[in-house]
Amino acid sequence: KKMASQKAQVVLFLDAKAVDSLQEGINFKRSPVNDKSYIIYKNRSSFKACKNQCKHQGGLFIKDIEDLDGRTVKCTKHNWKLNLLTMKYINPPDSFIQDELEVELLDDGGLQLVELNPPDPWMADPRECLVLKEGEVKVTYLTHACMELQLGERRFMFDPWLIGPAFARGWWLFHEPPADALDRLCAADLIYISHMHSDHLRYLEQSQVKLTNINVVPFGVWKNVDEHLRFMILMDGIHPELDTCIIIDYKGHHFKALTFAGHMILNTVDCTRPNGGRLPKGVDLMMSDFAGGASGFPMTFYGGKYSDSWKAHFIKKERKRLLSYKAELVKTLEPRIFCPFAGYFVEAHPSDRYIRDTNIKNSAEDLNALINILRPDTVTWTPQPGSVLDLGLCLRDHTNRLVPQTLYGPT
Ligand code: FES
Repeated sequence: KKMASQKAQVVLFLDAKAVDSLQEGINFKRSPVNDKSYIIYKNRSSFKACKNQCKHQGGLFIKDIEDLDGRTVKCTKHNWKLNLLTMKYINPPDSFIQDELEVELLDDGGLQLVELNPPDPWMADPRECLVLKEGEVKVTYLTHACMELQLGERRFMFDPWLIGPAFARGWWLFHEPPADALDRLCAADLIYISHMHSDHLRYLEQSQVKLTNINVVPFGVWKNVDEHLRFMILMDGIHPELDTCIIIDYKGHHFKALTFAGHMILNTVDCTRPNGGRLPKGVDLMMSDFAGGASGFPMTFYGGKYSDSWKAHFIKKERKRLLSYKAELVKTLEPRIFCPFAGYFVEAHPSDRYIRDTNIKNSAEDLNALINILRPDTVTWTPQPGSVLDLGLCLRDHTNRLVPQTLYGPT
C-alpha cells in the first residue's frame, strides 16, 4: 500500500485587521476555504487554535457560560468541556487532549492556521517489534549535530559538519571529531542532511565522499531501507521551508493506545516546533538541540535600545525559555533516553570576540538537570566525541542509569 505524503494546508487566513479585532480569550471563526469552524484562543500576544470539533462524536463547541475565566468551551451534543489554554478536556476529567493547529503569524500582522495531514504519519504500517541484541544498534557521537548510527548492517550518519568553520568564518567546532570521522562518513550507507545550513553539511563537497545518490524524500512517509530499517522525515511547524526532523525505526514498532513501543530514534535537530508539536511518545532515543544563540540577533545590533544590559537580559530570557520548552517536550514525549546535541559551536574567530563573550548559550548539563527533575524516568546522555551508546544493552537495563557496559569510548 502506498502512503500519501504528509501535507501542510492553510485552513484559515485572517488579515491584520481581523487579527486586531480578535478578542482576548475565545474566538469562533468559520473558514471560507472549507466552511469549517475553528476556535482561536488569544492570550495577550500568543495564540492557540483548534478545530471546532469535539473528540467525542464531532459536536460543535459553544462558550461555556459557567466558566468565569473565559477559557472553556462546551460541546452542544453531550456537554463535554474543553479548556483552550491547556487544550485538555476537563469533562470528562483527565481524558483527551485536543489536537492543536499551527498558528503562523505573518510579517504583515496577519495570521494563518495550518493543518498537517496526516498529523501522526508514523502510526502507519505498524510491525512486530523485535528485541535488540547487544552491539546491534550503536550510536556514536562525532561532533556538533553529527551522529553515526549503526543499525544492524547499515550505517546512517546525521548532519556531517566535520572540518573547517561554518557560516563563512562565523562558527567553529567546539569538539574536535574523532580522527576517523571522515572515513566513517565515506563508509556510511545513508547520510541525512536535516536542512541546508552549513553547520549541517559544511565541506561535504570537499571530503572524499561522492554524493552520487541524492534522494529528496516526501514528508511523513516511511522509506524502507531493508527488512528491518526504515525512516521518515517530518517538517517543522514553524519553518516548514527550512527545517526537518527524522524518525528512524529499526526492527519494528507497535502502539499501545497512542504510546509507541518498539525501537524508534527521534532527531528533532534545530526544529522550532517539529511536526507542529505532534511527535511519537515513548521512543527509545530522542536527540535535540539545546544551546540557542544561533541567530545574529541581538549581538550584532547597536544603538537605540540595544545596550549591553538589554542584550544580556534578552539572551538570558530567551535561553531560559528554550531550556524549559525542551525539558517540557521531553516530559510530554517520555523517551527512554534523551541526548542533547547540535549546540557545540563557538564563534572562535578573533573578530567575533564580542559575540563569543556575550552570546551565552545553554549548557547540555543544565538541560539534563532540568529533565532529571521533570522526567526522572528518562535517562540523559551527554556524549563526548567518540562516545558510543549500545541501545540494546541500555534498554535491557531497567535501573534508568547509563551503566558503563552500555557506553564505550570517552563519556
Ligand atoms: S460530541 Fe461532544 S460531547 Fe458528545
